[in-house]
Amino acid sequence: MSAVAPDAAALQLDAVTCTFVSRDAPGQRYTAVRDVTLAVAPGEFVSVVAPTGCGKSTLLNVGAGLLAPSSGGVQVFGAPLAGINRRAGYMFQAESLMPWRTALDNVLAGLEFRGVTDAPALAQDWLRRVGLGVFGDRYPHQLSGGMRKRVSLAQTLVLDPDIILMDEPFSALDIQTRQLMENELLALWAAKRKAVLFITHDLDEAIALSDRVVVLSAGPASHPIGEFRIDLERPRDVAEVRTTPRFIELHEAIWSVLREEVLKGYRQQLAA
Ligand SMILES: Nc1ncnc2c1ncn2[C@@H]1O[C@H](COP(=O)(O)OP(=O)(O)O)[C@@H](O)[C@H]1O
Ligand SMILES: [Mg+2]
Repeated sequence: MSAVAPDAAALQLDAVTCTFVSRDAPGQRYTAVRDVTLAVAPGEFVSVVAPTGCGKSTLLNVGAGLLAPSSGGVQVFGAPLAGINRRAGYMFQAESLMPWRTALDNVLAGLEFRGVTDAPALAQDWLRRVGLGVFGDRYPHQLSGGMRKRVSLAQTLVLDPDIILMDEPFSALDIQTRQLMENELLALWAAKRKAVLFITHDLDEAIALSDRVVVLSAGPASHPIGEFRIDLERPRDVAEVRTTPRFIELHEAIWSVLREEVLKGYRQQLAA
């Protein structure tokens, strides 16, 4: 695998539209996202923020090559994507560990699948980097929710993907654990500078982590309605940065765009 076109985005969605057969009314079509164009540069941390049900996971699935768009296309480092995006690692919202494998064996699984030679040493090293060096022999049920997320993070990063796709990875964690994990993610990202597409419904989280925040409209036919460069200094502490005047300013600016969409999404849920 080689990087094509030197100036190419790591991940580029071009006018992506995804239409599904409606779950509620079979025979009818539902357009989740329409005409979404979105690029993540190599090394850039981009968050997409929108209320629930807007098509955030749909977009991430398209970027991962798990879902073919109804129209539009995806480019990965300048080359059209067909099938699974092998340059991307994916971290889901839901628990994705295999309960019958230890923490170490969970991290090992992807490496073994790819036939990597020094897999056990590499897996152990990543467990250590996420602070679980001595927990390798624990099974998922013997770990806390935060520790399980760390294993998932190690599982994703051990494969050294050029693009990291994260779908609300920390939303199930309590706020303190979450902030610890966000800081750890930033530290790991700063060391390797991979392209990240991070999906969240939490504006604070999006601003604290990102170089750029993209706001999607409420569904149906969600599409970007605002894009904000986050010029906060790095390294950042996600808890501390929230108290800075610039953060509050950015939050106000983005919230003024997001607020109406959240209300629309909320009304739709009540009507459903
Ligand atoms: N495979 C599918 N079949 C039918 N409808 C779907 C499918 N996947 C997603 N949808 C619908 O598309 C919309 C966006 O879903 P999703 O991308 O999961 O939103 P989000 O991640 O922002 O909460 C929702 O209304 C959802 O019900
Ligand atoms: Mg989702």
